[in-house]
Amino acid sequence: MAQLLITGGAGFIGSHTCLALLEAGHNLIVLENYSNSSNEALRRVAELAGVRLGDRITLLQGDIRNQEDLEMAFSQEKKTIDAVVHFAGLKAVGESVQQPLRYWDVNVGGTCSLLGAMKRHGCRTIVFSSSATVYGYPKKVPIQETAIVQPISPYGRTKAAVEKLLTDVSESEDGWCIACLRYFNPVGAHSSGRIGESPYGMPNNLFPFVCQVAVGQRKELKIFGGDWPTTDGTPVRDYIHVMDLAEGHCAALEVLMRERPQVLTINLGCGYGYSVLEVVKAFESVSSMDVPFKIVARRPGDVSCSIADSTLAANRLGWVTRRNLVDMCRDAFAWQKDNPFGYFSKND
Ligand code: NAD
Ligand code: UFG
Repeated sequence: MAQLLITGGAGFIGSHTCLALLEAGHNLIVLENYSNSSNEALRRVAELAGVRLGDRITLLQGDIRNQEDLEMAFSQEKKTIDAVVHFAGLKAVGESVQQPLRYWDVNVGGTCSLLGAMKRHGCRTIVFSSSATVYGYPKKVPIQETAIVQPISPYGRTKAAVEKLLTDVSESEDGWCIACLRYFNPVGAHSSGRIGESPYGMPNNLFPFVCQVAVGQRKELKIFGGDWPTTDGTPVRDYIHVMDLAEGHCAALEVLMRERPQVLTINLGCGYGYSVLEVVKAFESVSSMDVPFKIVARRPGDVSCSIADSTLAANRLGWVTRRNLVDMCRDAFAWQKDNPFGYFSKND
């Protein structure tokens, strides 16, 4: 059992991982500024884990860029924090093109502040949310961790920069122990339908958009391009169920604490891919709802095919995904049906 600091723990991946970490017996302090989430997510996480808020999970409203907030988080418990799981950040690729300063400030500046606070408080273990986006246009698929890192958006460059920063920090003194987890396409929801992805406004990503079309909130899905060099002309992605991803974090943390590697950089994906049309068909079949779609022009910055080579994750973490596309569609749909506006109300 460890005392963990979770940044951005109320977000989509953070909330599901908080649940898995509580179930694995860890105690959590969550530092959140709620810029893209609601504390309702963590209230439900506590309920699912059968713990009281303030008992094994403490919520602190604050910002990773603010030293006072970080001090409050690191001084919260008498016991020192054993490790940080760092989700806090901004993640919209298109927005990052419009607002690069904000993205570098939060994602890179915020991580610098966090690492400074860790150093002051003698905590040297961190799991970082990186992304498959660091690979840019992959030269070879499935993508191995040794592939060239060449991101094509400001968002991707902030993730690659943090990976470099973490390597520099790990080489500056003994004791640092770091995992950079490169997520592929996290989707789905907890099987209870109580927690899931709750985007503000128009979703950028495929799954939440498909869900909203299926329940009639949006008229049709626009598929960005039908002329890609794939079997049906639509792009292929490695979708990973968010609970598999959450379990991947538990596995990574265990390896960090047991073996104390300096830096582990690992893909978290299933190792196989589905096209947009295959996702739409699977979703229609699982939900018994129609998902009307129209094929439109390609979206700038998209790649044809992104699939993880997940061998290293299996060998190094002893972790493999357990849920398939049907599970992802079923759980995403159940969440959407029960929570049509996510954690928010219609008028938010
Ligand atoms: P999310 O937006 O749902 O969660 C991020 C959380 O961080 C939010 O709750 C937000 O309120 C919080 N936050 C943002 N800035 C903060 C700050 N300055 N201080 C404190 N809290 C702050 O996103 P997510 O999908 O759960 O992603 C989590 C992490 O994983 C992010 O770093 C993201 O870049 C990375 N990632 C996500 C995906 C994806 O497709 N969802 C893929 C690869 C990597
Ligand atoms: N797509 C559509 N219509 C939509 C939304 C998406 O056709 O309305 C297509 C996209 O063109 C792409 C596929 O569905 O071919 C998946 O798109 P997503 O936006 O869901 O995911 P991406 O692969 O573009 O990117 C996601 C995250 C990134 C992250 C990356 C790898 O948004 O932040 O996965 O982890 F870096």
